[in-house]
Order: sequence, then structure tokens, then C-alpha cells
Amino acid sequence: MEARTLVLVEDDELADEVLRVAAAAGCEVERVWDVAEARRRWAAAPLVLVGANTLPRLPEASLGRRRGVLAVSAGPLPEGSWHAAVQLGVDRVVTLPGDDEFLVTTLAETTEPPATRAAPVVGVLGGRGGAGASTFAASLALASARRGGHPLVVDCDPLGGGLDLTLGMEKVSGLRWSGCSTATGRLTASTLRSALPSVEEGAGRLTVLSCGRPTGGEPSTEAPSPEALLAVLDAGHRSGEPVVLDLPRELSPAVTACLWRLTLCVLVVPAEVRACASAGALVRRLAHHGTEPGLVVRGPAPGGLTARDVSTAVGCPVLTTMRPEPGLAGRLDRGSFRGRPRGPLSAAAERVLAMASPAVAQGSAA
Ligand SMILES: Nc1ncnc2c1ncn2[C@@H]1O[C@H](COP(=O)(O)OP(=O)(O)O)[C@@H](O)[C@H]1O
Ligand SMILES: [Mg+2]
Repeated sequence: MEARTLVLVEDDELADEVLRVAAAAGCEVERVWDVAEARRRWAAAPLVLVGANTLPRLPEASLGRRRGVLAVSAGPLPEGSWHAAVQLGVDRVVTLPGDDEFLVTTLAETTEPPATRAAPVVGVLGGRGGAGASTFAASLALASARRGGHPLVVDCDPLGGGLDLTLGMEKVSGLRWSGCSTATGRLTASTLRSALPSVEEGAGRLTVLSCGRPTGGEPSTEAPSPEALLAVLDAGHRSGEPVVLDLPRELSPAVTACLWRLTLCVLVVPAEVRACASAGALVRRLAHHGTEPGLVVRGPAPGGLTARDVSTAVGCPVLTTMRPEPGLAGRLDRGSFRGRPRGPLSAAAERVLAMASPAVAQGSAA
């Protein structure tokens, strides 16, 4: 049987409070009443919650220091308990009921299977409008799925028309951003995945969180808030699977909030002079947020610009180049973008995916 979170709280009232929070988090816990019982489960439990009154007895029991021990208290911790908390290396003191939101999130995380693979978080932006960023983000996710991955691709551009449409998934049921906008830190990866549209692709499965399209009298589609985007990003990342973000050129608070989480930031730039100028302006803004993108230089080059010219003009290194994808506009219009594992676009996506996470690329190719 899998080890459960250990609750060593003698005070019944406080224990009830802890059990109530655990139920809200969908987390099964094991309550024990004495230190001897706790000893048997101490090392294996994913998380240990110790009541403030029990805490002073633990250092002399020599249970050993471990991570993931939380002290639970109904009020400020008494001095003796503080001393024990420091000796034990307690991660944090949780005061209930005030800290229940934190505790729900932490308990929910223990129910997630541990991430076993390096999971890249890749953000994709366009050097100019219509550069091909959404198409490339979709291609990255498809490339990952074809290798057997379960990537999550997140559309962060409320004016992009919906990434589900790019992927030909507009009829697949599941939530769009409008249904996830109240997401908070307590989201688990499995809940998220089962709520979102997903399709099989190659040996894997692709899940998309798309912006919608305004219907009826709605003035506009909802943009993800920074909190909701971070919650989704964290849940996706915790699953140990790649997350791809289709980012708008407008660096909204939600976008800047997630920039520092990126394993790799990709800027798709058509090999054109104006695209270079436009991309250069965006690169400066990104630098302001401590992010340096790598370029995917997209042909054709009507004026003969090389990848090196583009790199020099924009001021960023080149990750890869790609020739124009034949017949792409028609495929996008017909909703048949998926299911074409060959071509310049997929090849470039494969290369970038491998750069973002060599472990994933090699591990799944075996
Ligand atoms: N790799 C490519 N090769 C050829 N045409 C492309 C490519 N990527 C995008 N396009 C064309 O550019 C259009 C805009 O692409 P999109 O990905 O929506 O751009 P962005 O998200 O940067 O605004 C697509 O509808 C398609 O016609
Ligand atoms: Mg786009």
C-alpha cells in the first residue's frame, strides 16, 4: 500500500480540523496517537503533520530529520514547541483555520504521482504578428505526444482565436480558459487533465487549455489571470510532462509572471527585415524580465536574410531554422493540422524539444 500522510495530532479538535482539510484536498491520511506508532511510518510518509503539543516530545525520540514535516497549531506556537520545531527541521508552522488554503494545496500535492522525468516548460512567442508562434507551439506539443509524452499546451493569447482551432480540436469537449479562470494553487495535474480537451497523438496524448471565442453578446474572451496561469503551469509541471505555452506578444502580467518558470523561451522570427525589427523590440522587453529567447528562424527569406543575419539583427542565438511548411494554411483551415509527423515544422519542433529537455527526448526515443 502506498504510504499516506502521517497525522500525529493528539488534540482531537485540532485533529478534526486537519482531517477536514485533508478531505477537502482529496488526500487520505493516517492518524496516529503516539510517537512509537509514528516511528514506523516516519520515513516513508510523503508528509508529516505534527500537533504543536506533541512537538516537544519528538527530538528525544530520535525519529531523524526529514523534509516535509509541518507543525500544526490552533494558535501561536508555545516557546518549547519552537525549540523542538527548529531541532526537527520543521518546514513550516501551519496555523488552523487561517492557513487551510496552504494546507489543502500541500496535501493535494502529495496525492500526485512523483514526476519521474525532466519536464520542460517551453514558452513560444512570435517575432511579429502572424510569425507562426501558435503553429510552432502546437507543433512542439504534437512532437512531444508522438514520442509518447502527455504534454499540456496552454494558449495564453485571448486574441489568438483559440489554439483548439489551430489543433483541429474545437469540437473536443472539455474546459476552456473561461472555465478555469478561478483556478488557484490547489489544482492537481490529474484534475486538470481530466477536465481539459485531449486527443491521442502517436504514442502519446495531447491536452490543450485553449482560450475561447466570444459568443452571443460577450464583448471579448477572457484572458488568463496570473494566478490561474501559474496554478495551471505548476500543476502541469508537477505531472512530469512537458508544458508548452503559446504566449502573446503583449507581455501582460500573466505572461511576465510565468516567464521565469520557462526552461526555454522560443521566439519564432520570419527571415524578414521588419520581423527582425519587431522581434528586436520584444527581445528588449523580455530582457527587462530576465528572459533571453532562442530563435526559430522561419523561411522564406524574400530579401536573402540568413539565420546569422537574423540573429545579429535581433540580438539572440538561433536554436534552429525551418523552411516554410508546404500546404500549411490549407491544413489549418480544414482543421487537419494534426497527424502530419513529417515536414519542416515537425522536424524543427523535434529539434527544439530535444534542446529543451535532452532527458525527455532520449528517454522516449529508446
Ligand atoms: N512554419 C510555417 N510555414 C509556413 N507558414 C506558416 C508557418 N507557421 C505559420 N504559418 C502561417 O502563418 C499564419 C499565422 O501563424 P500563427 O502561428 O497563428 O502566428 P502567430 O501565433 O505568431 O500570430 C498561419 O495561419 C500560417 O498560414
Ligand atoms: Mg498566435
